[in-house]
Formats: sequence, structure tokens, C-alpha cells
Amino acid sequence: MKDMLKRIPEQIKRLAVVIAVIITGVVTVRYFILPSSLTDGRFHRQSTVERETAKNIVFAGATICGNCHGDKAEKKKAGYHKTVNCETCHGPAQSHIENPANKPAMSGGRDFCVFCHAYDQSRPTGFPQINPVLHNPLKACITCHNPHDPVPSQTPRECSACHAQIASIKTVSPHALIGCTSCHNVPEKHKVSPRSVRPTKPDTREFCGKCHRKESDRKDAPKIDLATHGERFLCWECHYPHRPERM
Ligand code: HEC
Ligand code: HEC
Ligand code: HEC
Ligand code: HEC
Ligand code: HEC
Ligand code: HEC
Ligand code: HEC
Ligand code: HEC
Repeated sequence: MKDMLKRIPEQIKRLAVVIAVIITGVVTVRYFILPSSLTDGRFHRQSTVERETAKNIVFAGATICGNCHGDKAEKKKAGYHKTVNCETCHGPAQSHIENPANKPAMSGGRDFCVFCHAYDQSRPTGFPQINPVLHNPLKACITCHNPHDPVPSQTPRECSACHAQIASIKTVSPHALIGCTSCHNVPEKHKVSPRSVRPTKPDTREFCGKCHRKESDRKDAPKIDLATHGERFLCWECHYPHRPERM
């Protein structure tokens, strides 16, 4: 026996000591030092599970809203916002479910939509993005886009077959909803012999003043004093009429 022990190489004996120390350490920590909540042997720490399940539920989930707001749910299901949850826009709504008098948030402001739709290079190609500074800056998004079914608004397109560039510039400008023909008188023949039969072009300051002068009753157009604003010049010497900017 002694001989056998002697024949074991020195390094193995030392290794055995090290292993013994490790095993003792692990056993001591496992059974005498760690709190019992960490060693209850299940997949998750029991006290964590209890802590999490004790929290108040604040989100009601993706489907329950349809029980009472079937019209909105139906509308959204088929539209571009089908992947956007009700509560993404209206905020956590569990308390609303329990008592409908607790109204959820209604984020109708521009800042909110811009959160997802402002131009950002890192967004996937084809994701609909706008430049919020240029895209109809004076109105709330929901005056033109229904948040539950944001069909792209239709702009007048009758001229875009030949004037595609002007049409696409105008599409994303403050003048998006003003038809080409409210500024140009276009004879039908222009579409057949465009170079010989030409439409009119505005030629006075008063023309733009129709909507923009202080006295105009066109409510949605920002106002200027026609007598003093850029007085000696035609409006389009400073503003491009198909995409006017405030500058
Ligand atoms: C149990 C039925 C019920 C469910 C489920 C329900 N709602 Fe409502 N909700 C109502 C009622 C009723 C009103 C109208 C409250 C009022 O006008 O006093 C309302 C109003 C609203 C309003 C308008 C608040 C306002 O300021 O006018 C929003 C937004 C809304 N609900 C969103 C949601 C969302 C999001 C969900 C899903 C998480 C949801 N609701 C689930 C019953 C429900
Ligand atoms: C993209 C954001 C967005 C999503 C997603 C969304 N909403 Fe709305 N919702 C709005 C905004 C903004 C308004 C305010 C509209 C207004 O003031 O005219 C609104 C208004 C409402 C109203 C009250 C006004 C009304 O027309 O009766 C209800 C109810 C409502 N939403 C329910 C829902 C439900 C249910 C869902 C999910 C099926 C949902 N919403 C998804 C943005 C959203
Ligand atoms: C959480 C992110 C998110 C928010 C917030 C959001 N949207 Fe969207 N929106 C989307 C997604 C996703 C699509 C679908 C894109 C697709 O089909 O590729 C979309 C599509 C659209 C489209 C369709 C554009 C087109 O021509 O393809 C319009 C318009 C739009 N949203 C307007 C709004 C408005 C207005 C608001 C604010 C009330 C809003 N969105 C808030 C994510 C969002
Ligand atoms: C005065 C009406 C109006 C307002 C206000 C408005 N839009 Fe638009 N929006 C349009 C029109 C018109 C189009 C062009 C549709 C087309 O190309 O046929 C459009 C297009 C879009 C598109 C699609 C762009 C693409 O690449 O397909 C998105 C996204 C959008 N708007 C989001 C918004 C958001 C977000 C706001 C608020 C910050 C907003 N819109 C405010 C009228 C409006
Ligand atoms: C069949 C193609 C075609 C269609 C459709 C068309 N145009 Fe034109 N348009 C032209 C061409 C070509 C010119 C001449 C361009 C040039 O001389 O450089 C022109 C010139 C113009 C001019 C400038 C006239 C000038 O004297 O400088 C205006 C304004 C105009 N078009 C407006 C419109 C409007 C508004 C519409 C839609 C109602 C429209 N066009 C439809 C082809 C077309
Ligand atoms: C708000 C009024 C307004 C609207 C809306 C408008 N235009 Fe113009 N357009 C003008 C004015 C003003 C000029 C003259 C600019 C100049 O003489 O430098 C002009 C010039 C033109 C020209 C001459 C070439 C050029 O670029 O200067 C064409 C072509 C034209 N418009 C086509 C269109 C088409 C197509 C649309 C619709 C997509 C349209 N316009 C909408 C005001 C408008
Ligand atoms: C039919 C009415 C109408 C006519 C005509 C018109 N505009 Fe406008 N214009 C508007 C409206 C409406 C807006 C505001 C749209 C919005 O942002 O909601 C606007 C916005 C503007 C803005 C402000 C842009 C900004 O960023 O705030 C300028 C500048 C402008 N127009 C210049 C012109 C010029 C120059 C002409 C003449 C060539 C003209 N407009 C003709 C209705 C009109
Ligand atoms: C000499 C250059 C010049 C001329 C000409 C000019 N503008 Fe402007 N316009 C500006 C500048 C710069 C601004 C921005 C600073 C400001 O509001 O005064 C502006 C702002 C505007 C705004 C936005 C006002 C607001 O409160 O948001 C409108 C609308 C406008 N102009 C319409 C017109 C119309 C219509 C004409 C022709 C009658 C015209 N402009 C002629 C330079 C000009």
C-alpha cells in the first residue's frame, strides 16, 4: 500500500489536493453560503418569479381592444398599420379595460407620428418616410391620414405623366393638396400638342395673395402682408411655387 502511494507521481498528489479544495469550496458555497432562493433547484429563481408576478399588469395585449372597438380593429387589420399595436399609440390600457372611464392616451400630435416616420437613413428601404420640416408642416398628421388606416392620401395626378418631376416635388410640399389647375389654366389641347398650346402661368403677386394675403379667408394658408412682404418682387423669385418653403 505504502509502495503504491509512493509510486503515484508527486504532481498527481498535488492535483488531488487542489481538486479536494475545489470540491469542498463548491459544497460549502452551495449548501452554507448561497441564500436558499438561489438554490431552490427550478429553472428560474423562485423569488424573481414572485417579484415579477406581483407587479401590476399595465398592458392589456394586442387583441382585447377589438372586443369593444371592433370598428377600429377591423379597419386597422387591413391597413398599413396592421403591425402597429393599439397600445403602441394609445399607451398601456389595462386600467381602461377594467374601467372604460379611465381614458387611454390619444397622441394626435405631429411629434408622435414622426417618431416612426421621420426620415432616417438606417430605416429599411421602402419604409414610408417623410421630412417633417417640409411635409405639410402646419397641420396635424391626422388631418390627412387616418391613424387607424393610413392610406396614402391621393394627390391630383392628371399632369404627372409628362411633368413627373414637378408632380413628385409638389407631392411632399405644403402645396400637396392644391391641384395644378388651381394655378394653371390648362387647355385640353395642351395634353395633345403641349408645345404649341400652352397653359397659363400665374403672373402677379395678387395671384398668390388670393390665399396668402392677410385679408384672405383661406384659413389653412399662412398669412403675409401683401403690401410689404418682398414688395418689389414676384413671389416665385423667392419661393419655388411647387415647393414653397418658409426659409
Ligand atoms: C370593455 C370594453 C372596452 C375595451 C376592452 C376597450 N375599450 Fe376603449 N373605450 C371603451 C368605452 C366604453 C369608451 C368610451 C369612454 C367614454 O367616452 O367615456 C372607450 C374609449 C376609448 C378611447 C377614446 C378615449 C377618449 O379620450 O375619447 C380610446 C383611445 C380607447 N378606448 C382605446 C382602447 C384601447 C387601445 C383598447 C385595448 C387596449 C381598448 N380601448 C379596449 C370600452 C372599451
Ligand atoms: C398609429 C397610431 C394608432 C394606432 C395603432 C391606433 N390608434 Fe386609435 N387613435 C390614434 C389617434 C392619433 C387618435 C386620435 C384621432 C383624432 O383625434 O381624431 C385615435 C383615436 C382613437 C379612438 C377615439 C376616437 C374615435 O374615432 O372614436 C379610439 C376609440 C381608438 N383610437 C381606438 C383604437 C384601437 C382599438 C386601436 C387598435 C385596434 C387603435 N386605436 C390603434 C392613433 C392610433
Ligand atoms: C410604431 C411605429 C409607427 C407609428 C408610431 C406610426 N406609424 Fe405609420 N406606419 C408604420 C408602419 C410599420 C407602416 C407600414 C409600412 C409598410 O407597409 O412598409 C406605416 C405606414 C404608414 C403610412 C402609409 C404610407 C405609404 O404610403 O406606404 C402612413 C401614411 C402612415 N403610416 C402615417 C402615420 C401617422 C399619421 C401616424 C401618427 C398618427 C403614424 N403613421 C404612426 C409605423 C408607425
Ligand atoms: C395636408 C395633408 C397632409 C398632412 C398634414 C400630412 N400629410 Fe403625409 N401625405 C400627404 C400626401 C398628399 C401624401 C402623398 C401621397 C401620394 O404620394 O400620393 C403624403 C404622404 C405621406 C407618407 C408616405 C410617403 C411615402 O414615401 O410613401 C407618409 C409616411 C406620411 N405622409 C406621413 C405623414 C406624417 C407622419 C405627417 C405628420 C408629421 C403627415 N404625413 C402630415 C398629406 C399630408
Ligand atoms: C402630353 C404631355 C403633357 C401633359 C399631359 C401635360 N403637359 Fe404641360 N407641358 C408639356 C410640355 C412638353 C411642355 C413644354 C415644356 C417646354 O417647353 O420646355 C409643357 C409645358 C407646361 C407649362 C409651361 C408653360 C410655359 O409657357 O412655360 C405648364 C404651366 C404646364 N405644362 C402645365 C401643365 C399642367 C397643369 C398639366 C395637367 C393639367 C399639364 N401641363 C399636362 C407636356 C404635357
Ligand atoms: C401654387 C400655384 C401653383 C401650383 C399648385 C402649380 N404651379 Fe406650376 N407654376 C406656378 C408658377 C407661379 C410658375 C411660374 C414660375 C416661374 O415663372 O418661374 C409655374 C411654372 C410651371 C411650369 C413651367 C416650368 C417651371 O418649372 O417653371 C410648369 C411645367 C408647371 N408650372 C407645371 C405644374 C404642374 C404639373 C403642377 C401640378 C403638379 C403645377 N405646376 C402646380 C405655380 C403653381
Ligand atoms: C389655393 C390657395 C393657395 C394658393 C393660390 C397659393 N398657396 Fe401657398 N399655401 C397654401 C396653403 C393651404 C399652405 C399651407 C399648407 C400647410 O402647410 O398646411 C400654403 C403654404 C405656403 C407657404 C408656406 C410654406 C411653409 O413652410 O410654411 C409659402 C411660402 C407659400 N404657400 C407660397 C405660395 C406662393 C409663392 C404662391 C403663388 C405662386 C402660393 N403660395 C399660392 C395655399 C395656397
Ligand atoms: C424677396 C424675397 C421674397 C418675396 C418676393 C416673397 N417672399 Fe415670402 N418669404 C420670404 C422669406 C425670407 C420668408 C421667411 C421669413 C418671413 O416669414 O418673413 C417668407 C415667408 C413667407 C410665408 C410664410 C409666412 C409664415 O408665417 O409662415 C408665406 C406664406 C409667403 N412668404 C408667401 C409669399 C407670397 C404669397 C409672396 C408674393 C406675394 C411672397 N411670399 C414673396 C421671402 C420672400
